Amino acid sequence: MNAPAYVKNPKLIAWVAEMAALCKPDTVYWCDGSDEEYQRLCQQLVDAGTFKKLNPAKRPGSYLAWSDPSDVARVEDRTYICSEKKEDAGPTNNWMAPADMRTTLQPLFDGCMKGRTMYVVPFSMGPMGSHIAHVGIELSDSAYVAVNQRIMTRMGKAVYDVIGTDGAFVPCVHTVGAPLAAGQTDVKWPCNKTKYIVHYPETREIWSYGSGYGGNALLGKKCFALRIASNMGRDQGWLAEHMLILGVTNPQGKKYHVAAAFPSACGKTNFSMLVPPEGFKGWKVTTIGDDIAWIKPHSDGKLYAINPEAGYFGVAPGTNFHTNPNCMASLDKNVIFTNVALTDDGDVWWEGMEKDTGKLPDHLIDWQGKDWTPAIAKETGAKAAHANARFTVAATNNPALDAQWDDANGVAIDAFIFGGRRSTTVPLVTEARNWTEGVYMAATMGSETTAAAAGQQGVVRRDPFAMLPFMGYNMSDYFQHWLNMGQTLKASGTKVPSIYCVNWFRKGEDGKFVWPGYGENMRVLKWMIDRIEGTAKGKENVFGISPSYEEITWTGLSFTPEQFKTVTHIDKAAWVEELKLHEELFKQLAYHLPAEMTATKAALAVRLEA
Ligand code: OXD
Ligand code: MN
Repeated sequence: MNAPAYVKNPKLIAWVAEMAALCKPDTVYWCDGSDEEYQRLCQQLVDAGTFKKLNPAKRPGSYLAWSDPSDVARVEDRTYICSEKKEDAGPTNNWMAPADMRTTLQPLFDGCMKGRTMYVVPFSMGPMGSHIAHVGIELSDSAYVAVNQRIMTRMGKAVYDVIGTDGAFVPCVHTVGAPLAAGQTDVKWPCNKTKYIVHYPETREIWSYGSGYGGNALLGKKCFALRIASNMGRDQGWLAEHMLILGVTNPQGKKYHVAAAFPSACGKTNFSMLVPPEGFKGWKVTTIGDDIAWIKPHSDGKLYAINPEAGYFGVAPGTNFHTNPNCMASLDKNVIFTNVALTDDGDVWWEGMEKDTGKLPDHLIDWQGKDWTPAIAKETGAKAAHANARFTVAATNNPALDAQWDDANGVAIDAFIFGGRRSTTVPLVTEARNWTEGVYMAATMGSETTAAAAGQQGVVRRDPFAMLPFMGYNMSDYFQHWLNMGQTLKASGTKVPSIYCVNWFRKGEDGKFVWPGYGENMRVLKWMIDRIEGTAKGKENVFGISPSYEEITWTGLSFTPEQFKTVTHIDKAAWVEELKLHEELFKQLAYHLPAEMTATKAALAVRLEA
């Protein structure tokens, strides 16, 4: 119960005691982050039936969890930004006044951990002690959360040295919302129909109720590293972004760093682990991060980025040796799988793996514990793995991990990429002519929705900066923050990073993707580097600067000029419609919308008409 002697921060000790008094767990357990503790908690989850230990000959050190079928994704409609003023949360967030939310949550949290253990999980987002990193403490009644957090963050005792006697930490409280009465047997995946994912930006607190899944429960990820951190970044002059970070090294050994924002389940993990195709001899792509970037201006005038996370919580379905060989290699041991299927020999399976083996398995147990066969799937359409099934794995498992991934100073960013999932309209790649145009491209980005969030899939929604579900304050103020950052960079006199808009997902008349994607995206990356080096001229169009067919390196791929035209052409009529959607977005975001946004749109409209 009592804090271990190495915890020396009275504020932290008092807060844990206060939360324990509210949540009323049977015990409080202070995690130390050791391997012994991880193994012990995993065994405990096996004993409770939450985890199945996978066949050690096939998948050493790995486990499979199946969630409650009602608890499978982030719940955006239950996610709140509770700033004092509604305008500060902005029109894209759910809002409630902090005092009202506290009154709402108080009875829900009162006794919510009865019959359970409260785990005290200390974690650092970013290399421990880095000037770009920040620490948090998550209190959770889920051992599943504790073991996942050990993979996803730098978790353990050393965090208390960072906090010291008076250091700051972000307090995060999480409960599955399923107290146990005396003698009541537990279910394998406790959760509650009622869910609240709550952020108090001014006091930098996170309270999560009712879900055990992913971003709802692993509070370091979306809640802290994006929603709370975006507030810290605005106040302190840095950026918290929904971006992967990768390194590209050319055959001469020159290395570039790119940060890229895509909405959930648009292949971010694939892009961050890209294997250059044959024909790109000597080129190397290495992963710094696959989901989130914290980016700070430095006195040399450049932007430096770290990956605040230490692991990947990636979407499993669709991942195979063709789409992402490095990811498949990362998953060969010490993985926690959630909501994938179980094979008869104690391994895992998900849709997409048949591309590697050339056939579907004869029999599986699906993510809901039911028999699955190809015949059943054909008849009922049942998926063996849930579309948002995930793996949790340490970054250090990744064979393409960048040597600087854990560098406390981060890596200097040369380019930003913004990409949505659009079957029409948006070309393969466009470079913004300047920072403001780049901010406009990012601000007006649209994307077809995916299974990463509960709700309808496949509809186009505006997803500015791929941050729509993760913005911790008013979206228009965030655009302004990006514009201000551009001013700061320009004032320093160094080269401002280039900004690109990409779309890997354009479809042909047959409804099929035209661009091959995956490793072939290297061809686009190389063009960007040629632009940075000034060796590719590009062609100016209404929207920005695009490559000519000749400027792309085609070695090893047969992709005709006609196909290239299909993925790059700008359909003026479609863009007139697209601008109407930008207009709609700007109407929604009118409060504090920077004048540069409407001016850029007006200039685009004029170019379209010309
Ligand atoms: C994620 C997401 O889990 O964006 O990374 O949903
Ligand atoms: Mn994400």
